Amino acid sequence: MTNKEKISERLATLCVHQGVNKDDTFNAVITPIYATSTFAFEAPGKTKGHDYSRTSNPTRSALEECLAALEGGAAASATSTGMSATATVMHLLPAGAHVIAGHDIYGGTYRLFSSILPQRGISFSFVDMGDPENVRDAIRPETKAVWIETPSNPLLNLVDIKAVCNIASENGLISMVDNTFMSPYFQRPFELGADLVIHSTTKYLNGHSDVVGGAIISKSAETGAKVAALTNALGTCCAPFDAWLVLRGVKTLPCRMKAHNENAMSLALFLDGRDEVEKVYYPGLESHPDHELAKKQMTGFGGMLSFDIKGGSDAAFKFIGELTLYAFAESLGGVESLIEHPDSMSHASMDLAARRAAGIKEGNIRVSVGIEDAADLVADMERAFAAL
Ligand SMILES: Cc1ncc(COP(=O)(O)O)c(C=O)c1O
Repeated sequence: MTNKEKISERLATLCVHQGVNKDDTFNAVITPIYATSTFAFEAPGKTKGHDYSRTSNPTRSALEECLAALEGGAAASATSTGMSATATVMHLLPAGAHVIAGHDIYGGTYRLFSSILPQRGISFSFVDMGDPENVRDAIRPETKAVWIETPSNPLLNLVDIKAVCNIASENGLISMVDNTFMSPYFQRPFELGADLVIHSTTKYLNGHSDVVGGAIISKSAETGAKVAALTNALGTCCAPFDAWLVLRGVKTLPCRMKAHNENAMSLALFLDGRDEVEKVYYPGLESHPDHELAKKQMTGFGGMLSFDIKGGSDAAFKFIGELTLYAFAESLGGVESLIEHPDSMSHASMDLAARRAAGIKEGNIRVSVGIEDAADLVADMERAFAAL
């Protein structure tokens, strides 16, 4: 029923066709939502491939097949949220394991790593991964994995995935890459040496801000089987309806990513050099310290940018309050533009010292640039600056 074989090497074709679980009963062109908890056995030990929806479900399997093909991995497990994907992969590690992560990762991931998992015997070092040698220096005898998030959230710092994965493999560590910000359209971590790719499918993969979901893609079938056993044992899988929404969203991933990228570039150029703005963080700008690395390891610069407004949080809130096209909301990766204040919102789960150590200032404003007309997005900001 499913296309187990990869049907193309080309991403746009894969997005539309891979994992489309055609319906044999009515020839539906779109994968149906199999809203069922359980599946009847045909005989003892004999099923049509599924027995219970926590273990597997045809709609979810279709999405998993699609995501594995998009990232170029051997297997994928679709989970209920990005955080459940992260929590699940941490169960691959034994008690007593030590993990090295970037110091400027997503606030929710930082909270899991700094205050929840240490209570379960897994410890973390948070390092500036801008210099891969900091990873090597943090390795201890009990280190088992490296967690890479690039570009980082919200300051868009880059990690050299290939360099860090090389250090990981030389030292027998599992390399895990959160590829949420770029999506497989712009960044392909397996080609740079990663072992596992993690997504919040809530963001670009779904792209319509109408679902929360996650995914774990494994480079090897062996790790994929371990991850599938974990999602089944922990119950972190996603529901069939949520899988269907993501599967639908993925079909337009290339068109959306191109539009996000173009609009973010226009906004970054508009913000860069404005009197009210202290600094713009966007890897597509030539002034970005990692611009050369961005050109090397990504095929686009993405739809996320942030900037420091002069005047701290008061100015930030006033500016945001003047906007009409940008929703004042957390999250990212949807077709509509969103704007938020990391210091009090997305990164409030990091303590103040950790936020400042990561370089997040009071006046930092993060934008998830949508696919509206770029001129309208610029004009709305121009008006908000004028009102300050
Ligand atoms: C980079 C990144 N990874 C993971 C997550 C967590 O995903 P979710 O909110 O789907 O649990 C987020 C959420 O914002 C994120 O930005």
